[in-house]
Amino acid sequence: MKLSSTPLIPADAIQQRVLELARDISMDYAQLDAVLLCVLKGAAPFTMDLFHAIDPNPFTLDFIRAQSYAGTASSGAITLRYTPDEVLTHRHVLLVEDILDTGRTLDVLVKHIQAENPASLKICTLLDKPLRRIIPATADYTGFTIDDHFVVGYGLDYNEQYRALHAVYCLEEE
Ligand code: IMP
Ligand code: MG
Repeated sequence: MKLSSTPLIPADAIQQRVLELARDISMDYAQLDAVLLCVLKGAAPFTMDLFHAIDPNPFTLDFIRAQSYAGTASSGAITLRYTPDEVLTHRHVLLVEDILDTGRTLDVLVKHIQAENPASLKICTLLDKPLRRIIPATADYTGFTIDDHFVVGYGLDYNEQYRALHAVYCLEEE
């Protein structure tokens, strides 16, 4: 597998979109008791850029970890590897994902969080691949909607590689 020669989403377009999302989110969550819940590991760069750009920022930052993938094909089995320290009950939770693909991971995460009875639960995703959906899911805040490509960079990995890239690239057959 190799990277596409040009990025699917250049770094400056990502940073521009992060600022727009941060503006919307800071207006929607002003004055609320809110938790920004980063889905590790892929959403970490996106979450931190958002967290820095949300101003005023009412969010407490926390992390959750789900693991679903080996290579480019979903195994279907999802395990929660890390659960939040913060009490989510009666608080406004904004879950931050790197990518919405089949919707299976989000389904597991949403059920886990709903069981804690939050005041609200919304989803922010950097990327959405709606053509791949198996379990219905829609995000409340979406960075970019893309076609059915396997993508890497800006947190997204292929077997733990490419997470540090500043842009998003397609991964192609050699
Ligand atoms: P889902 O459960 O099928 O929606 O997959 C969600 C998870 O699979 C994401 O949080 C990613 O970790 C991973 N994933 C899905 N599509 C891609 C991709 O194109 N590149 C890298 N990881 C992906
Ligand atoms: Mg992954």
